[in-house]
Amino acid sequence: MRENFNSKFGFILAAAGSAIGLGNIYQFPFKAGEGGGAAFLFLYLLFTFVFCLPVMISEIAIGRAARQNAAGSYRVLGHKRWSLLGKTGVLTGFVIFSYYIMIAGWILSYLFDYLTGTPAISQRFPELVANPLRVFGFAALFMAITVLFIARGVRGIESAVRLLMPALTILLLGLVIYALTLDGASQGLAFYLQPSADEFLKTSTIHSALSQAFFSLSLGMGALITYGSYMKSNQSIVKSAALIAIADVTIAFLAGLLIFPVVFSFGMSPSGGPEMLFATLPKAFESMGSIGPFIGFSFFLLLSVAVLTSTISFLEVITAYVSEEWQKKRQSAAIGVGVAVLLLSVLAILSFDPKSTLSSGFLPYPSGISVNYFTFIDDLFSGIYLPLGGLLIILFASYRWKNFKTELATGDDGTLKKISWLLDPMLRYICPIILALLVVISFFDKYFGIHLI
Ligand code: TRP
Repeated sequence: MRENFNSKFGFILAAAGSAIGLGNIYQFPFKAGEGGGAAFLFLYLLFTFVFCLPVMISEIAIGRAARQNAAGSYRVLGHKRWSLLGKTGVLTGFVIFSYYIMIAGWILSYLFDYLTGTPAISQRFPELVANPLRVFGFAALFMAITVLFIARGVRGIESAVRLLMPALTILLLGLVIYALTLDGASQGLAFYLQPSADEFLKTSTIHSALSQAFFSLSLGMGALITYGSYMKSNQSIVKSAALIAIADVTIAFLAGLLIFPVVFSFGMSPSGGPEMLFATLPKAFESMGSIGPFIGFSFFLLLSVAVLTSTISFLEVITAYVSEEWQKKRQSAAIGVGVAVLLLSVLAILSFDPKSTLSSGFLPYPSGISVNYFTFIDDLFSGIYLPLGGLLIILFASYRWKNFKTELATGDDGTLKKISWLLDPMLRYICPIILALLVVISFFDKYFGIHLI
């Protein structure tokens, strides 16, 4: 018998755990700061609830109806050819996981530094990334922890999220309260939340909000097909999806309330990319006096917890695929996948080592800018593939799969009836058309520097 989540809440916690991760605590606040504060926030909420929610509903329904991994699900539903979409999704997960685990390694290394009282942590980032062996070691340790949970199956996932999600919420709330009481917090809030009108219709802001919404909700590659396949049938898909999205945006929003007040209170300006987490914030923690190391430790613990529930979801998607499609035992599949992902992660790790050819200048885009290997695969797999995959998933559910509506109605508590006047046209017309347009716009913007709007 295939396992299920034990409770309704277990499924929602696990899916929220998958959603809440680096996307919320690291990317969101930074992108919001860069994209004109409230302008970005507005676009992000719009994309999440209007365009992403229907994709999420489709993914969960496909998984729950088929009760198979992300690729096998299409076959079980009678559309063998579509399993190619599932396979490219799993491959995408594999690639994204290979750099996600690198960042997990960075975080663990910092956590370790705080634990051992290493001095001047804020200056360690250049040293850390120029030391691929250390990064690899910590990434491998993080992977080993992830494998331990996945090897135990759905029960392992459920017990992890039952412990980790409340821990995450408490840590985050505690840190937010502390941050808001700092002198100068209001400057940070102004930067974070004041809308700047000219950012609204910038193509780069739109693209950034779109890819953020997909990445943050773990959509487009079949993660929720996999989790949906363990969901009980007496639970409303629409309502669960809404709860997951609400949890995800709430945590992202709170993370901004933590990060910007801290940064501005200590007279620093928000920096882009990894600098923010690994240099700017630690610097602010160092200016806090004796409480600094404790706040720093708590913050990196928070990150580790958020990241662990996400690495669990990446590993589950690929492990479910390998164990069901290639008929391998779950334990050995989990270990094998973990090792393979770590091997690929070496390329991502090297792209931050200035000595490596994979680092900056690795690949020139036609638009004229050059990127390292990490940015190249992040743009391609997360920036382009996830929205594209989401578009194809919604097309499959709406136009190819006959029982979509029946599956959505199963276990529903009346929510579906109330919103079907909106959901139907969304699923069939509005989402596919807008998503297709957005993917095309993003593609030209990213690679060719051509702004279609
Ligand atoms: N959503 C996670 C985050 O915000 C990352 C993540 C986990 C993910 N599983 C995924 C992204 C599957 C895309 C697909 O950090």
